[in-house]
Amino acid sequence: MIRFDAVRKSYPNGTTAVDNLSLELAEGGITVLVGPSGCGKTTTLRMINRMVEPTSGTVSLRGRDIREVNAPELRRGIGYVIQHAGLFPHRTILDNIATVPLLLGWGKKKARSRAAELLELVGLPADMAKRYPNQLSGGQQQRVGVARALGADPPVLLMDEPFSAVDPIVRAELQAEFIRLQKELHKTIVFVTHDIDEAIKLGDNIAVFRTGGKLAQFDTPERLLADPADDFVADFVGQDRGIRRLSFVDAAELPLRDGPVLPASSSVAEARAADAPWVLVVDEDRRPLGWVAAAGLPDTGTLADAPLTPLGHTFSLVGDSARAALDSALLSPARLAIAVDARGAVAGVADAHEVSTTAATAKRTAETTAAEATAAEPAESETTAAESAESEPAAAEPTESEATAAEPAESEATEPAPAVEKSAPADSRGGGER
Ligand SMILES: Nc1ncnc2c1ncn2[C@@H]1O[C@H](COP(=O)(O)OP(=O)(O)OP(=O)(O)O)[C@@H](O)[C@H]1O
Ligand SMILES: [Mg+2]
Repeated sequence: MIRFDAVRKSYPNGTTAVDNLSLELAEGGITVLVGPSGCGKTTTLRMINRMVEPTSGTVSLRGRDIREVNAPELRRGIGYVIQHAGLFPHRTILDNIATVPLLLGWGKKKARSRAAELLELVGLPADMAKRYPNQLSGGQQQRVGVARALGADPPVLLMDEPFSAVDPIVRAELQAEFIRLQKELHKTIVFVTHDIDEAIKLGDNIAVFRTGGKLAQFDTPERLLADPADDFVADFVGQDRGIRRLSFVDAAELPLRDGPVLPASSSVAEARAADAPWVLVVDEDRRPLGWVAAAGLPDTGTLADAPLTPLGHTFSLVGDSARAALDSALLSPARLAIAVDARGAVAGVADAHEVSTTAATAKRTAETTAAEATAAEPAESETTAAESAESEPAAAEPTESEATAAEPAESEATEPAPAVEKSAPADSRGGGER
């Protein structure tokens, strides 16, 4: 959908911001660009809407070289969200959101009713419409930023660290909201972050960059954790990647032990015969009641008379991941995770070691998808791209200076609307249209 072919961006001061990038981003999915500061994430993002022009190589959108599309027209189909939202301080929330529809000549009434719809879509109450940005919290402003980027219903959304400036709790809310929104909207999203946890949480695919603008690995979150390409990626995804990976393994794949599991009607003698430190006591429908310690068994009677230790957390074979199973095992007084089926009946137990070793070898469903999504061959396009860039220096000039000019006033310049206006003079067709 969005394709980079041997793309390089270097600046006159000798900095290579992006080095020979070949990458294909899937339509309708979230691709996360992640990596340390200065590794070229923002530059890569901005080459998609021509705020930055590559020094060489080609960026194409749905098979079309974006240099063939004038920048204003291109940006109409690409929403852009930045850190701190970059809202116009002197415009109301509603008018901020209505910016792009208004510019596209929708008329005030239609643009505002669209804006009101979007306000609701991003989970903000209607009475916020009349407020000004400084009367909203950082998280709320960020939602408005997303709403504004969705103004003209663009198929593509570029998001540059959109949730980085808010505290961790608000951030988690925004992420959850974002996942919900994407399920509804199916946009093609390119999302920049320096936070690997955020990348893993949100990305369908993740591109890890290293300093110098080099792509270190492009994979699904799952494969990134399972099989980091090198030490840099392994360090970047962190020491606890084994545990993170469990989130991608279905709990239903875990092998389970039968027990010891006994109904409350069983005798103390039966529990003793199980010869285990802990016995799980269940009701007549096999729903778990609690653990009983062998050491705490009464002399006679049934397990109904025995003192029960609370279960902790069970995990479900329907919908839970191996990560939930691991938590269940670690938090269990018996050190055993209790698996329940859809009816809540005990299906078996497993210890933490069994959970993690099984998860390590479990099937990884996304394997094929990742293989399909691997970067395209860069080899031959390198020269072609370099040649064409050289043969059209005039075409590259104005947009380059435009990008530089846009630099100091980040919030205003990156906002989609003025980008349309600013670039218009640099582009004869765009200028004519407006
Ligand atoms: N106009 C410019 N002139 C010279 N160098 C630049 C220019 N813009 C960016 N760079 C350099 O290019 C490199 C990549 O910058 P970029 O903004 O893409 O990084 P980033 O990965 O987004 O970093 P961060 O996480 O800090 O936002 C950096 O070394 C940066 O200093
Ligand atoms: Mg950046």
